[in-house]
Order: sequence, then structure tokens, then C-alpha cells
Amino acid sequence: MSDERLAAAARRVLRGNDTGRWTVPSRTQYPHQWNWDSAFVALGLATFDWGRAAAEIDALLEARWREGMLPHVRYDPRHQGDYFPGPDRWPRAQAHVADSAVRTSGITNPPIVVTAALLVGRQQPNRERRLAFWRRTYPALRRFVEYLGWRRRVPGSPLVAVVHPWESGWDNSPRWDHLRDARLRPRRPFARQDARRVPPGDRPSDADYDGYLALVELLDEADYDLAGYRVRSPFCVHDVLADALWYRAARDLGDMAGELGEPAPFSSWRMDDFAAAFEERHWDPGLGLYVDWDCAAERRIARPTAAGLAALAGGLIPPERAATTWERYAALSAGARAICTVPPGDPAFDARRYWRGPVWAPVNWLVADGLAAAGLGAEAAGLRAGTLDLVREAGFAEYFDPLTGAPCGARDFSWTAAVTLDLLARASG
Ligand code: DGY
Repeated sequence: MSDERLAAAARRVLRGNDTGRWTVPSRTQYPHQWNWDSAFVALGLATFDWGRAAAEIDALLEARWREGMLPHVRYDPRHQGDYFPGPDRWPRAQAHVADSAVRTSGITNPPIVVTAALLVGRQQPNRERRLAFWRRTYPALRRFVEYLGWRRRVPGSPLVAVVHPWESGWDNSPRWDHLRDARLRPRRPFARQDARRVPPGDRPSDADYDGYLALVELLDEADYDLAGYRVRSPFCVHDVLADALWYRAARDLGDMAGELGEPAPFSSWRMDDFAAAFEERHWDPGLGLYVDWDCAAERRIARPTAAGLAALAGGLIPPERAATTWERYAALSAGARAICTVPPGDPAFDARRYWRGPVWAPVNWLVADGLAAAGLGAEAAGLRAGTLDLVREAGFAEYFDPLTGAPCGARDFSWTAAVTLDLLARASG
């Protein structure tokens, strides 16, 4: 399929998933607005409809909490019964939403929306329109990054505390298997809806869902206060990717502030302190990879996954470490399509099961971005081309089997289409 036809097909997916106010990840599987999905969607929209890209980010910011948090789901009242869990599972969360008419979840996502806002803004050739977009979005974006930087701190660390696997976006990654091992059960019974339209083998297990719903109850009981939640819960982590994207967001916010003539949002001391803590907590010399930190057990979670590679997009990993990390992960994933989220030799690897092995287009986008910034231009170009090949072969699937390249999960998926458009635009630009 030619690049033109691929781009036209990707645009059709985004138009088909457009509700008018925001773009759903998938009409059949995820009928609301998701935070980091919309950030990637905005990058794709910016390649052909800049106004719509800006509106995607505006809609996400409308769901902000009074504390500054941007929730991971903004619910569409027209689709209340079509997805589980709905807002009734996050009852206390609703009182935190700045706009009392908006319903949201009670957790967030890694702050890639800030980077998306910077990049979308840069796509606007008209200076006045560009600055007006940044001026309008900057205060809410800044409050979000500050929220993560201050209200998600555990004592003794400047890093960000992530309180739910859904918040990381990598729901059932082996990185979070300690939650499954804790065998939590929610008090309220529930019925899953996520495996009605995709094969159950592509989705997290029932045991995973027990843990997810139990954490939702613990968070709500604590009224979304980190200290109150931590005394009840076994799950609180420094996610290597969320931390890297926080650093990137803080830096990108600084660029936006510079354009707007605003003071720098974070001091260089704060940024250096964060980067030093990142290196100390996340670098695992034994594995030769960046991994996560369990704040409850106070130890590294030494699981090899692509999260540590995607963290290259944060711009805080030294270039020589970027090269060795890339080589190390490539050696572990020999024979698989890039980038498998778990290497095939790992005991937890499952080629189709969501975040336990499949290839995800936005992860590839982040890794390629990080490689390019670290001076590994040929590797970045190879990864971008490989990602487009996968989509050409298998379509705009939610994710891909790294052994066969087969499509998995939902189809006509927004962020896969959006990443395709961005990669095509870069290749031709
Ligand atoms: C899901 O429903 O699978 C999502 O990942 C939760 O946000």
C-alpha cells in the first residue's frame, strides 16, 4: 500500500472515531476519552486538521480536577453502560472535577499530553494562533505537571508515585505482577465487559481485574489522597516511563513558557535532582536496563520490558546508556518484531496478551523519538519504517503479535492510526 493510501486510511479511522468533541480510542472497546490516547491522537490530527488537534487537547483539559490532575478517562454520558468501570466505581472522584457537569475516573496517565501540546503547537505556522493555543492550554498543563511533581511524591524521593496499573497505561505488564500476587479482591461484585468483543486471550486475566477493582476501592476510600491510599495499599510504584515522561513534560513546559514569556516552571536544581533520582532508582546494573521501583517494598522491580526503552523519550538518559540499553533489549528480543513489550524468552511473555509481549505503535513512537534524540538516527529510522510495515500488513490494530505480526485487540484503533500519520509526515518532511 502506498504512503498516500495508508495516510488516507489512517485519517478515515480518526474521523470514524471522532465524537465531535474528542476521539474515542475505539468505538467498540473504549467509548470515552482516554488521556494519553488523546495526546497521541492530537499528534495524528495535527498532520491534516490542526484546529481539530487543538480541540482534542482542549477537551482533555476540560476534565481537569481542582487539584490539577488530568484524569485517565473522561466519561461520555451517552455511553455510560458500554464500558466497565463507569463513574459509579469512582464515586468520590466526581467531587474533585473542576467542572461539575463532567464525569471522570480517579487516576491519571503519564503526562505525554504536555509534549503533544508543544508538538501540535509547533505544527501551526501562524504565530498568533500558535501562541494563542499555548497561552490557553499552558495553565492547566502546568498545574498537571505540578500536581504529579508535588502531590504524587512519597517521602524521600522527587519521583512520581503511580497508584494503579491503569494509571501507567501498561495494565497487565509483568512489571506489575506483584499486584496479582497480593491477591486483593474488591468488596463490590463486578462484571467485566472488556472481553466481549475481543478474544479473552488478548486481555488481562480475571485475577488482574480483581486487583484493579480492589485498588479502585482503596483509592476512593482514601478520597484520592496519596498518603491515605498508601497505608491501605500494596501498590505504589515509580514507573520508569511515567517518570521519564514527567521529566520530558517539565522540559517541554519550560519551552512553552519561554515562547510565552513566562518564568521557567521548574528550577534547574529541581530538574537535576529528579534526573539524579531517576538514575539511582531506575537503572538496574544487573539487567543493563532501566526498570521500575516498588515504593511499598522499597526495591527495584527487575523485569525486562520495553518501558525502560520507551523512557529514552524522556531525554534524561545519557546517550551512551541509551545505546547500550537499545543493544541489550534488541539482543533479548531477537526474532521478534520491534518493539515487543516483553522479550520472548521471558517466562511472562505472552504474544497476544495486551502488555505481556505485543507491539504497540505509541511505544515504538516513544522509543524512536528517544533514539533520535540520543543520536541513534539510523536505529530510529529503522524502527519507524518497521512500525509502518507492521501497520501496512495488519491494519490499525490496537496492538500486534510480535512473533507473527498479526493484529490483536480492537481494530480501527485511534492511536495506531495517529502514530501512523505522524510517522508518515516525518518520513516525507
Ligand atoms: C482498559 O479498560 O483496558 C483500560 O486500559 C483501562 O484504562
